[in-house]
Amino acid sequence: MKRLPVLFAGAFALAALASGLAQAQTVVKFSHVVAENTPKGQGALKFKELAEKKLPGKVTVQVFPSSQLFGDGKEMEALLLGDVQLIAPSLSKFDRYTKKLQLFDLPFLFDNIDAVDRFQSGPDGVALLDAMTSKGVKGLAYWHNGMKQLSTSRDALRRPEDVKGLKFRIQASDVLEAQFRALGANPQKMAFAEVYQALQTGVVDGQENTWSNIWSQKFHEVQKTIAETNHGIVDYMVVANAKWWDGLPADVRKGLSEAMAEATAHANKLAEDINQADRRKVVDAGKAKVVTLTKEDLAAWRKAIEPVWKKFEADIGPELIGAALKSNG
Ligand code: LMR
Repeated sequence: MKRLPVLFAGAFALAALASGLAQAQTVVKFSHVVAENTPKGQGALKFKELAEKKLPGKVTVQVFPSSQLFGDGKEMEALLLGDVQLIAPSLSKFDRYTKKLQLFDLPFLFDNIDAVDRFQSGPDGVALLDAMTSKGVKGLAYWHNGMKQLSTSRDALRRPEDVKGLKFRIQASDVLEAQFRALGANPQKMAFAEVYQALQTGVVDGQENTWSNIWSQKFHEVQKTIAETNHGIVDYMVVANAKWWDGLPADVRKGLSEAMAEATAHANKLAEDINQADRRKVVDAGKAKVVTLTKEDLAAWRKAIEPVWKKFEADIGPELIGAALKSNG
């Protein structure tokens, strides 16, 4: 009779252990640097919603926007250390991990985001998702933001001459550095979270970004002129720590892959609308003047930036550049 409570206790302990194991949750920390009301911000939230719905009790996704957890410069390191499981840096920020992705920074390569989408969903784009697997980084998806515009603290911003000698904040990309050097300007690599203050205090005179980033970071409040150059893109690769991803239970990996595919479709559908709506908000706010460029103006920018292509052609590969150009249709 005396042994009964002991048996009960043992059974309880086993049951508790079993249910604990059954409920062992995969916690996915997803860190990014932009605001929630942007294409990437919305994509990350959608991914959380879908992943938790598809894998109830098995997965929790924690989204950290606006460089709250890790900013530029730290997030790749954090991913490789396993401090965060997913990040979605702009394609410009993988310079140190692969030269192939420099493709996306070549100025005036893509006519619009539809062309970017065609290239990314084709064989060459899909293959590039694996460009960093040897470094422990697994590409899961491309997410769009939009075309870049150029802004400065000066009144005149129509022709390449207007940016000569000015200081520009750039993302950590050698192509973007070469782009501003070709224009006779002074590029400065800087984390996204620091840009507003750098513009406000005059540490830099200008920057390049999409309408959604300009609006959500209030860059238009600390810039005088924004020229609609559409000279490049800000697009993202959602990446995971490859070891973590490959080590996930098969059902969890499957559910997360499905959630990622659906969140990608959602975010990519929203991106253009968000950017156009934010463009309107910037115009309506009336703080910075928005300049629409003529064909002649744009031809002058193209000509001034052209030498950049030659410099990076060998590293990127001429075939890859050719394939990207074909996606313009
Ligand atoms: C930037 O640094 O300007 C962008 O890459 C930020 C982002 O993630 O859109």
